[in-house]
Amino acid sequence: MDFERAASLQPSPLVDPFGRTVDYLRVSVTDRCDFRCVYCMSENMTFLPKQDLLTLEELDRLCGAFIARGVRKLRLTGGEPLVRRGIMTLIESLSRHLRSGALEELTITTNGSQLPKYARELADYGLKRINVSLDTLDADKFRAITRWGELDKVLAGIDAAQSAGLKVKINAVALKGVNEDEFGSLIAWAHGRGMDLTLIEVMPLGEIGEGRIDQYLPLSMARARIAERHTLEDIDYRTGGPARYVRVKETGGRLGFITPMTHNFCESCNRVRLTCTGTLYMCLGQEDAADLRTPLRASEGNDLLNAAIDEAISRKPKGHDFVIDRRTKRPAVSRHMSVTGG
Ligand code: 5AD
Ligand code: SF4
Repeated sequence: MDFERAASLQPSPLVDPFGRTVDYLRVSVTDRCDFRCVYCMSENMTFLPKQDLLTLEELDRLCGAFIARGVRKLRLTGGEPLVRRGIMTLIESLSRHLRSGALEELTITTNGSQLPKYARELADYGLKRINVSLDTLDADKFRAITRWGELDKVLAGIDAAQSAGLKVKINAVALKGVNEDEFGSLIAWAHGRGMDLTLIEVMPLGEIGEGRIDQYLPLSMARARIAERHTLEDIDYRTGGPARYVRVKETGGRLGFITPMTHNFCESCNRVRLTCTGTLYMCLGQEDAADLRTPLRASEGNDLLNAAIDEAISRKPKGHDFVIDRRTKRPAVSRHMSVTGG
């Protein structure tokens, strides 16, 4: 057998120029959402025209190609992944990679609104842990942050997920003057229900129509504030993501910090991000991207696609350089989080 054929039978793993192995793919299955969180979207968002979207079958094929190249963890994001029509057929189809053992983990990041409807099915398709974004337990604040969301529905979604046996991690974006007085109650609530809680720094992604500097709260400050009332013990628990965890002695639960602004974690980055139009972003914080839709559609076999993936990985940048300050009026990256996926 010639070398090329052998290589195509045994596809090589994805390793970038800095020696980082890419084994984690995040897929934004839609840029749409039923919420309009103030740090994520502007009030009047323009979404992608439907005809630009990859079909669910195409998304499935793309994910399969990455899995064949050594991706072990797949996360569906959005926008809100569960508002994409037919999303459960994609999840059902992807679950075959869990059963075959090719994929270690299939998961989603969701705002929780659709979980009352879908939690049971997600568990049936082999999902074990999901991330739910929730920044506050105060219904009025929740409405103010999400513009369109209802706290009760999200709480019902979390109930449904836990009843279905899914482990839930709560992600909260730390917002200056909005939820910074609530970290204690969020910890008590999440840990009381057996859920990890992770705090995230606001990142400068996309025009949102109001000042990000006013939202930005460095997590070093959040941590200092939490430590006034809680004992935080460093632990080396990792989930394959950028969060650093501590154990809160009083609750026994885990608290994570994702600090893209104050602390760079790019040196251990293991991920790339695919959008619902088939664009691959090698870094959340850079504009550079690769078009995978064209090679995907150009032929039925995956050779062209694999070549495009290799070329993209060879361009994965060393890291992001986010800055939020009064002089930098424009976001570091023009696209919103809902395009590239959280
Ligand atoms: N900075 C930080 N986090 C963000 N999210 C959305 N936009 C931003 C931003 N600009 C978060 C959501 C959710 C996850 C998908 O990303 O709150 O937790
Ligand atoms: Fe929707 Fe999540 Fe963006 Fe909020 S942060 S608008 S829930 S995609």
